[in-house]
Formats: sequence, C-alpha cells, structure tokens
Amino acid sequence: MSSYYSVIHVLKKSNEGDVVNLRGWVYRLRWLGGKVFIVLRDHSGIIQCVVDKDEARRFGKEISELGIEASIIIGGTVRFDKRAPGGKEIKVTELRVVGVSNNFPIKGGEGIDYLLDNRHLWIRSRRLTSIFKVKHTMLKGLREYFSSNEWWEVTPPILTMSAVEGGATLFPVDFFGRKAYLSQSAQFYLETLIFSLEKVWSVTTSFRAERSRTRRHLYEYTHLEAEAAWMGMKEMMTVVEEMVKAGVKKILDERLDELETVKRDITKLEQVLSNRFDVITYDEAVELLREKGVKIEWGEDFGADEERVLTQQFDTPIFVTMFPRKIKSFYMKVSEDNPELVYGFDLLAPEGYGEIVGGSVREDKYDTLLNRIREEELNPKDYEWYLDLRKYGSVPHSGFGLGIERMLMWISGLDHIRDATPYPRFRDRLYP
Ligand code: 4AD
Ligand code: MG
Repeated sequence: MSSYYSVIHVLKKSNEGDVVNLRGWVYRLRWLGGKVFIVLRDHSGIIQCVVDKDEARRFGKEISELGIEASIIIGGTVRFDKRAPGGKEIKVTELRVVGVSNNFPIKGGEGIDYLLDNRHLWIRSRRLTSIFKVKHTMLKGLREYFSSNEWWEVTPPILTMSAVEGGATLFPVDFFGRKAYLSQSAQFYLETLIFSLEKVWSVTTSFRAERSRTRRHLYEYTHLEAEAAWMGMKEMMTVVEEMVKAGVKKILDERLDELETVKRDITKLEQVLSNRFDVITYDEAVELLREKGVKIEWGEDFGADEERVLTQQFDTPIFVTMFPRKIKSFYMKVSEDNPELVYGFDLLAPEGYGEIVGGSVREDKYDTLLNRIREEELNPKDYEWYLDLRKYGSVPHSGFGLGIERMLMWISGLDHIRDATPYPRFRDRLYP
C-alpha cells in the first residue's frame, strides 16, 4: 500500500467509490453479526471502517490482533452513509495491524487521579487533542500579530540569579555549588534588550513555586512576554488588546471543529472581537465589588473570587489599572498624581476566568527604583545590572506577560488549567 490520505481529506474530498489508504489507531471497535466496525483515528479526525463478513474471515489473524489503540493500516473504498459519523465510511479491503494494543488502560469512566497517572496515554483523547490544536493556532495568531507589527522575537534564559516576582515563589537550582533559580519571568532580560531592539517579545517557560491549589495555577507555564521602549500604559494596553483579539480571531477562523469538540459556546468569543475592552481603575473595581456584596478593603489584592465577580459584569476581557503600590512589584512606575498607586494593568478574561495578563510601565529613574528595591527589603546588589539600565540612556518603557495556559483555559472553556498543557505540573504531581 502506498500514499496515505488523512481522515479529514477523505471526509472532505473523497467521492463514493474512491479507493483510499489510511493509517492510524483503533478508536472504537465492535462486532455485529460477523461484521467488524472499526473507528479509525488519526491526527485529523475519525472515520468508520467496516469489515464485511467474508473479509473478516479472510483477515482472521489481523482481526484477532485488533484492540483499542492498536495502530493499523487500512485500504478500502469510500461509501457515503448518512448514519456514519462525518457521512462517509470505508469498506475495508486491506487490513494490517502494525502495533498491537492489548487491554488499553483507559476505557472511560476512570477518575481524575488515575487519568493523570496515565497522562501519557490519556493525551490521545479527542478532547485533549482538540485543546492542543487550539493552543497551536492561538500561538500562531499571537506570533503573527508581533511579526506584522515589527516586534523582534528573542530568546531569554531560564537559569537565572534573581527574582522578578518575589523570592517566595522561586524554584532553586544547584548551579555547580552556587544557588540559581528557574526563571519566573523574562521581563528583566527583555528590558535589557529594548535598548537595542526597542520592541521585543518572547515565549519561555516560567516557573512559580506557588503552593496555591487553585484551578488556574501551574508550577510551570508558558509565558508570552513583551517589552517596548518609548511606550506608555495606554499604548501598551492597546498592544495587549490587539494581540488578544488576533489570537481569538485566528482560532475562530481555523479551529471551529475543535471548539465544538470541547463544547465551547463560540458566540462568547465572537463578542470579544466586536467590542473595545473596558478599562476600570482599581478604585472603581473595589467599588463595583462592594456593590455586588463582596467584602474588600482598599489596598487588598484581588483573588480568583473577586476577579470572578468583576468579570461577570462584562462581555469582553477588561483591564484593571492603577493598583496600590503595596500589592504590586517594585519595578512598576509610581503614579505622579498619587504615590500610593502604580501604573500597572491586568487583563481579566470574561465569564469568571480572571487574570490572563499582567503588565505595567517600568520605573525608569535610578533613585526611585533603588528606593523601591530597599522599600521591599530586597538586596540592591542582586539588581545591580537591572539598575544599570537606568544609568545608561534610560528610557520610558513598559511591558506585560500573558499566561498562555490561562488564555487557552478561557478560550476553550476549561474548568481547570491542567488540561491546557500536556503534562501539567500542579499539586504534587511530577509524573510522567
Ligand atoms: O502577573 P505576573 O506574575 O507578571 C509577571 O511575571 C511580569 N513580570 C510579566 C511581565 O510584565 N513581563 O504573570 C504574568 C501572567 C499572569 O497574568 C498569568 O496569566 C500568568 O502569567 N501566570 C500563571 N499562569 C499559570 N500558573 C501560574 N502559577 C501563573 N502565574 C502567573
Ligand atoms: Mg499578576
């Protein structure tokens, strides 16, 4: 047998009577009155393949070797059949089992812990396959946005020496007897690069040793970050809005089948494209929360619960801006009008999903930054190189970080972040 078609090709292009070859895995299998019904799965979809009585007898050995998830090669003719999923099926004339599969451990109905222990097999599921395809297309849309707006993609390190987002959530690494850490954010490295490239962005893995057992925290996640010289908060928020919309649009253009598989209501995503994202200040957000009966003091940070209530009041993602200095990082620029506030912004995804982007204007004055480092009781020695950037040609600049799995969780309508990545690191899980 030579030249194989993908399942999607057959479903979309083949005509009644065409002779085709397919290869893939046994997704479903059942015997009925001497006939064998194989649902074959490949990277593109599933199709029913029927082995008639006589053929089944002829393929005795192959038939006996068939099992769920066995890899197989099939040859046959295309038949139109309204009852078959996708409206077409294959009448099998050739069958070869390439890799047997006896007693596949996942049969359906297993509990979440069992499934996570078998993640290396579970990732073959149609649901996870669809989610990872959406992720691919989302990254493609985001990447295209940066490419077509003259941003440079760069590759910052993961092995680092200092904390960007506070010491409490650092993962230590033994660096030949010295203490190093896994990166929490590429931000400081991106900041060094804007003095030559001006507009830079990267996708790296970020690590957070946060032992919070929430639905939206991973120890290891995909972090898209951007940083630009000369940009203020408004401009950077516009970048975030256009970028998020570019990602959503790409998915609506290319991944409708997958969104259907994960049962996503796409009207919710279409709304995002047709409206401007609302902007509210932290002060306004606190007021809105109190109106909705949430007890919160001015100066407290928002958790998942507060963000859920906030985002349920809007149809699109919303920006929250101008946070209290005390709850944000030392590098955020302090407001000229009110020294208690910083020029920081978060983007909260609708339907209760909450924060997907965190960004700010960066403090660009040497003395102010040094004071902020001391105020947070950090060691200025650790930030010497970072402070240098404010000594040699400092420039107003801002940037942000987008959690790719957080955004995917929202786009795909997931109720837990674990399925937004093939091997989620959360709770105490490190296997496989
Ligand atoms: O808000 P964060 O902590 O901001 C920073 O790290 C900045 N230094 C980024 C920058 O300005 N270059 O993280 C940014 C985003 C969050 O909005 C969230 O989407 C995601 O990263 N994130 C996580 N995603 C999954 N699991 C976690 N534990 C996450 N922590 C942050
Ligand atoms: Mg944040």
